[in-house]
Amino acid sequence: MLTEEIQQIRKESDKDFSSVDNAKKLEELRIKYLSRNGLLANLFDNLKNVSKEEKPSLGKELNEFRNSLTEKYNSLKSNLDNASDQLKDQIDLTLPGIKRIIGSKHIIIQTLDEIKSIFNGMGFSVFEGPELESDYNNFEALNFPPDHPARDMQDTFFISKDFLLRTHTSPVQIRTMNKYKPPVRAIMPGLAYRNEAINARSYCVFHQVEGLYVDTDVTFAELKGTLVSFARQFYMNDLKYRFRPSFFPFTEPSAEMDITCFICKGKGCKICKKTGWLEILGCGMVDPNVFNNVDYDSEKYTGYAFGMGIERIALLKYGIDDIRRFFENDLRFLKQF
Ligand code: DAH
Repeated sequence: MLTEEIQQIRKESDKDFSSVDNAKKLEELRIKYLSRNGLLANLFDNLKNVSKEEKPSLGKELNEFRNSLTEKYNSLKSNLDNASDQLKDQIDLTLPGIKRIIGSKHIIIQTLDEIKSIFNGMGFSVFEGPELESDYNNFEALNFPPDHPARDMQDTFFISKDFLLRTHTSPVQIRTMNKYKPPVRAIMPGLAYRNEAINARSYCVFHQVEGLYVDTDVTFAELKGTLVSFARQFYMNDLKYRFRPSFFPFTEPSAEMDITCFICKGKGCKICKKTGWLEILGCGMVDPNVFNNVDYDSEKYTGYAFGMGIERIALLKYGIDDIRRFFENDLRFLKQF
């Protein structure tokens, strides 16, 4: 009986030890066979129950078995220990660590953040609207006459007859006024799309920041004050500015704001085309027709609006020569900011 048991466990141990390839497995086998409660100790215990005649030979056999297993265990253990020592030798702990590359904010997002924080400081909230807009919000509610050239297929990416990729952020004015009663004071940053020829100065997609303030008694003087304060914080403190009359369907009167060229400080250079002035935004007093379209009482409320292109602002501020750089995601360009 005991002989057979020894045979069986020997076979099992042969199989077990031949497949050991790591220290954890080896330790498990030591516990299974060679520990105080292991299979071998158990066999030795059973030696008590065999007859006197058999005891010496079986005892000898068991001793041999235990010795051979112990030897196997020791040699495997030293092999595995050596291997892990060698691995340690291969790792040079004095090597400098591998630096992980951490991305940074895109220069356009940085510029947007800066603009947002300046207007936040002047009491403006931030609202956003979808890039896929209705023709109604993008044009009609903003008082674009049906035959206005901006509605031309040339400029607008139409999705269907009634839907399009917004061509400016002004439709967010409509969404904001439809949602909130006056007073409203907010800026609305986001992407706009135009089906224009792509070149160094214009691209099919770009960012704008829209601004809107509606309350009783809002004046053009407040519009000027707010925009001049913005420009002084964003560009430079001692800038000169001028407002030129202009036209936008949704504002009346409308204007464009120029500031002294901060590259040449007004002397005239390539960037300002030798005029000493840079146009930075469009603005005006909200047209009463727009108020009527959002059910604001145009007898009671007045408001101003403005809109600026972020790529243009960043081009000027950082002296970048080509608007396409913002969209190419060339790391050599992006890493400079
Ligand atoms: N939406 C105009 C554009 O894309 C910019 C603009 C001009 C926005 C005057 C305004 C504004 O809010 O009052 O060219």
